[in-house]
Amino acid sequence: MAPFSIPEIKKRIGTFPKKTLIFLPTPLQKLEYLSQALGGPEIYMKRDDLTGLAFGGNKSRKLEFIIQDVLDKNADVIITWAGLQSNWCLQTAAVARKFSIKPILVLFKTYDLPEEYDGNLLLDYILNADVRLREAEKGRIPRIEDIEEIIDGVINEVKEMGHTPYIAPIGGSMVGCSMEKPLGAVSYVNAFVEIFEQVKDKGIEINAILHATGSGGTQAGLIVGAKALDENIKVLGVSVSEEKEPYSKEVLTVARDTVKALGMNISIDREDVVIFDEYLGEGYGVLDKEVSEAIRLVAVKEGIFLDPVYTGKAMAALIDLVHKGLFKKEDKIVFIHTGGTPALFPNKHNLVNFLKE
Ligand SMILES: Cc1ncc(COP(=O)(O)O)c(C=O)c1O
Repeated sequence: MAPFSIPEIKKRIGTFPKKTLIFLPTPLQKLEYLSQALGGPEIYMKRDDLTGLAFGGNKSRKLEFIIQDVLDKNADVIITWAGLQSNWCLQTAAVARKFSIKPILVLFKTYDLPEEYDGNLLLDYILNADVRLREAEKGRIPRIEDIEEIIDGVINEVKEMGHTPYIAPIGGSMVGCSMEKPLGAVSYVNAFVEIFEQVKDKGIEINAILHATGSGGTQAGLIVGAKALDENIKVLGVSVSEEKEPYSKEVLTVARDTVKALGMNISIDREDVVIFDEYLGEGYGVLDKEVSEAIRLVAVKEGIFLDPVYTGKAMAALIDLVHKGLFKKEDKIVFIHTGGTPALFPNKHNLVNFLKE
C-alpha cells in the first residue's frame, strides 16, 4: 500500500498558499506516432508547455507558490539570475509584472548566442524587465558561490533606493536566498499527483517519468510524489548542465527538504535519485546534432515543438535509451514537456546547420 493517499497529499500541498496563474491539470497526451516510430515503449507526454503563462513551462507551476511568498514578504522587486535565454527568468518577469513587482534579471552568457532581442530575451524586453548581462563560462550555469558578489551588488543597489528585494534562487528550487521552503518542488509533487490521476483515468499503469533536470526542483518534487504514491514509477532525470555527482546530492537535498516541508514521514534515499549525465554533450545550452534531430522527429511525428536546451536534450536521451533497450516494448513512459520553446529562435542558425541534409 502507498504511504499516502491522493487526498492526504493534496491536503498537505493545499497548506502552501499560492496564486492561481495557470491552467491545471495540463494535458497528458499519447504520442502514438512517435512511439510507433521508435518501436515501443508507449510514450505519453505531459504538456507542461501548455500552462498558459508566458509561453508555458515548468517554472510557471513553481511561480504560483513563489509569487505568493514574494507578496507575503512585501517585496516590490524580485531579483533572480540564470543563462541568457533563461525560461525561468522570463517566467519570473512575467509573473512579477502581473503583480506590479519589478523584475531584475541577471543573465549570464553561457553559450555563444548573439545578444540580440530574440527568444526569451525579446520577451524579457517586451515585459520591460531590468536585464543585466554578465559574462560566464561557456556551457556552465554559474554556481551561487561564484556570482554572490554580483547578486549582492544588485541587492545593495535596490535597498539603497528604498525598495524591498526578494531574491529568488535560480530555478526556484533550492531553499535559500529569500525562499525558506522548496516551493518549486512542492509544485512538482502536485504535478506527480496530476499525472497519477490522469493515468488512472486512462486505465494504464506507467513505469517511468522522464524529464530534463536543471536546478533540481522538478525532479525532487516528482521523486517525493512517487515515493508517496507509487514507488514502482521511476523518475528519470536527464541532466542538461551538471554531472551526476555532485548534482544528485543537490536533488536529494531538495527532495528531503520537500518531504520535511510537507510533513511526510517517508525517507528519500540516494538510489531514488536517478540522473543521466551522458547526454550533456558540450554542456549547458550547447546544441548538437542528436538534439536537433530529436526536435525534428517529435515535430514531424506529433506536431509538437521541443526546446533546444532542455526538452530536446531529454528527448534525445529517451530515444537513445529506447534504442539501447532500457525499456520493454510494453512499458509506458511519461515524458514531461517542461516548456522552453522560445529558445528555438535564437538557436536558429545552429539548428538549421545540424538539420541540413
Ligand atoms: C524548459 C525547462 N525544462 C526543464 C528545466 C529543469 O527544471 P529544474 O530547474 O526544476 O530542474 C528548466 C529549468 O530551467 C526549463 O526551463
